[in-house]
Amino acid sequence: MVDPHRTAGHQTPAQPDLAGTQPASVQQGGEPAVVGGASSSLRHESAHLHVAGGARYVDDMPLPAGAVHVALGLSSKAHARIKHMGLDAVAAYPGVICVLTAKDIPGHNQISPVGAGDEPLLAEDEVFFCGQPLFAVVAQTRHAARHAAVLAQVEYEDLPAVLTVEQARAQGSALVCRSLEMTRGNAQQALAQAPCKLAGQLVVGGQEHFYLEGQAALAWPGEDGEMRVCSSTQHPTETQHMVAHVLDRPNNLVTVEVRRMGGGFGGKETQANIVACLAALAATHTGRPAKLRLDRDDDMLVTGKRHDFVIDYSVGFDKQGQVLGVDMELAARCGWSADLSGPVTDRAMFHADNAYYYPDVRLRSMPLRTNTQSNTAFRGFGGPQGAAAAERIMEEIAFATGLDPLDVRLRNVYGTTERNVTPYHMTVEDSIAGEVMTQLAEDCDYRKRREQIRAFNRTSPHMRRGIALTPVKFGISFTATHFNQAGALVHVYTDGSVQVNHGGTEMGQGLHTKMVQIAMREFGLPQDRVRITATTTGKVPNTSATAASSGADLNGMAVLAAVRTIKDRLVAFAATHWQVPPEQVRFTAAGVGVGEALVPFATLVNAAYMARVSLSSTGFYKTPKISWDAATGRGRPFYYFAYGAACAEVAVDLLTGENRIERVDILHDAGQSLNPDIDIGQIEGGFVQGAGWLTMEELFWDAAGRLRTHAPSTYKIPACSDRPRIFNVRLLQNAPNREDTIFRSKAVGEPPFVHGLAVLHGISDALASLDEYRTCPRLNAPATPEQILRVAERLRQHGGVKDEQA
Ligand code: MTE
Ligand code: MOS
Repeated sequence: MVDPHRTAGHQTPAQPDLAGTQPASVQQGGEPAVVGGASSSLRHESAHLHVAGGARYVDDMPLPAGAVHVALGLSSKAHARIKHMGLDAVAAYPGVICVLTAKDIPGHNQISPVGAGDEPLLAEDEVFFCGQPLFAVVAQTRHAARHAAVLAQVEYEDLPAVLTVEQARAQGSALVCRSLEMTRGNAQQALAQAPCKLAGQLVVGGQEHFYLEGQAALAWPGEDGEMRVCSSTQHPTETQHMVAHVLDRPNNLVTVEVRRMGGGFGGKETQANIVACLAALAATHTGRPAKLRLDRDDDMLVTGKRHDFVIDYSVGFDKQGQVLGVDMELAARCGWSADLSGPVTDRAMFHADNAYYYPDVRLRSMPLRTNTQSNTAFRGFGGPQGAAAAERIMEEIAFATGLDPLDVRLRNVYGTTERNVTPYHMTVEDSIAGEVMTQLAEDCDYRKRREQIRAFNRTSPHMRRGIALTPVKFGISFTATHFNQAGALVHVYTDGSVQVNHGGTEMGQGLHTKMVQIAMREFGLPQDRVRITATTTGKVPNTSATAASSGADLNGMAVLAAVRTIKDRLVAFAATHWQVPPEQVRFTAAGVGVGEALVPFATLVNAAYMARVSLSSTGFYKTPKISWDAATGRGRPFYYFAYGAACAEVAVDLLTGENRIERVDILHDAGQSLNPDIDIGQIEGGFVQGAGWLTMEELFWDAAGRLRTHAPSTYKIPACSDRPRIFNVRLLQNAPNREDTIFRSKAVGEPPFVHGLAVLHGISDALASLDEYRTCPRLNAPATPEQILRVAERLRQHGGVKDEQA
């Protein structure tokens, strides 16, 4: 039987409504029917392979004859000049074919994804972080390559290293990219005139992606300069460009392919390029297929992580808890190169309001360059860090006014007709955050349980409970407008089977399943007649990363466009062939209705082929309505917002500092869900990953800048036993997207990550009991046992209330 925790309140449609069993709409160009088949919990297209070990990842591909293996030599210094790289012992190791350094790169030793020119693939004469790739060993076996790599004798001359946000600020270090400012109204004046004000600081940690499949690539040199690369990348097009750039070849010689990733979470948006380029470099030098799969420790040492932030805030408010003015500076540890730190710190600012209206506001980002791994995209892309600041502000106001934090949140939530303009001057047209919070509070009995918890805490010396309910409002679209485009390529074969290709990549999130469902529904076909293929730059070119949660929104519309083009041709053909009006050609699960008759899809397709009708089409989509001008800090960067709310109840052990998530209720808006089971999986997974980030995942660099948490032995991610004891996840019902997205669905990949904040605030609420809820605990993240004990100690002392029973 199913786990009741997982399915409690989880509303899957009762009928077995596979998409293809629903009558498809045939009104060409008309609105799709937004019922039934649009929302069906089709199983993941690879589920049967995942569970049986049949799903091929890069590392599972049978190696071509003569394949060679690559391993990396890494910098052991955070910042140093390389005086001498002694590689003789490496080269002499049995089985080693060659050792490649920056000098062996035929094209450009440069893989900055934003053209910053600050990211050499292999170090030249200076290293900028401990873990930076210095050279690549190419050997007959992976074992030989890895053993040889550690034999290098590198002489360094140490240079001063900047490791943390504090150090970077103290030394006035350069920014890694431009900072952004957003202003509306006059924050300084609003703060000066506010009846109440306070200032504080939030420190929120980074996060390792810990995708189960590490970074991997297999490169095949072809004839005449061709290179084919199978890569675990979220961004095949960029990987193609980077390989071409490094090898100094035109893009048309490089083909990048990805069937699936074993998780990406943003960590393979740019970081996959390192591995793919080095595999391609080795293949070029040896003329043989070359494979590089990073060992977990190397993966953690080399690649970037979530940005940690130090956020300074000042807020003015009134006695009713209403915000009047906000001033915030968001400083981020970006690492040694720009990578995506510009857009990530921008998105932190775009979400520094979370779901709340700030009447007068000034926000500034401070993307700091440091001698650490180059921090990168990670689920939410800076948004969760910004939202964490908004929630801290709400919590501060609650303690300052003595109000229930939920009431402070509801007082400040965006309105629908007024109090609805964001710090970037975009009008929020459909704020439902307040309604969602109110509904969730009722459904999960928030107010009564809060009273019970307070009563419990009065009698419990060592175990304290806490509860918090937080919202999310997450902006959907790439903030760089031009990325909001997608392409698809659909083939119908003469036996009536269909192949769907699109520019998005599958990383476990179910994107391919949703794309298959669109074709099934439109053609009226069952799942086994629609095949999705690996993503390849050879079929759909010039794609955007599968990121910003927009995979289904963008590629879904492109697939729909391609399918509709083919359907148009089939309808026109059938109407002429069988002499019926075009309106009488309908694609249904039982077959194609042609007037009174029912023609099997394959029969129609075959007849169309005989009449020389094209059965293949591309499709293209670009998101309407959006624009963004970073120079003025104004625009409509997001097509729409996804909303939700989470309520978490936790228990904190004051003797050990450990915490446990007792119960979580989530109400989340996926619009008219494309696949409720997959979306609920995304919400559950996003929440757990968010809670892990905020409570247990801690990155630690020592004073020399060495990452000491580079394996699961020292870096703790949530285990099955860390999931909430009671876990109720529901999709908001009857909530079609008011914008014209694919079947009125909403993006769901990243927004639920923010729900983890309810856990941090639940722990904070439990700790606040230590001084009778008088002081804001100012609990930073991650709330590890050490951090919890420290805050508990501070509250006991400064709170002035003795914990008599303890
Ligand atoms: N879910 C799984 N299982 N694995 C992943 O790697 N990545 C997340 C999210 N959900 C991820 C995931 C991130 S960071 C993003 S941006 C979206 O999925 C990307 O996919 P989508 O645009 O199709 O939602
Ligand atoms: Mo997701 S961080 O946009 O890959």
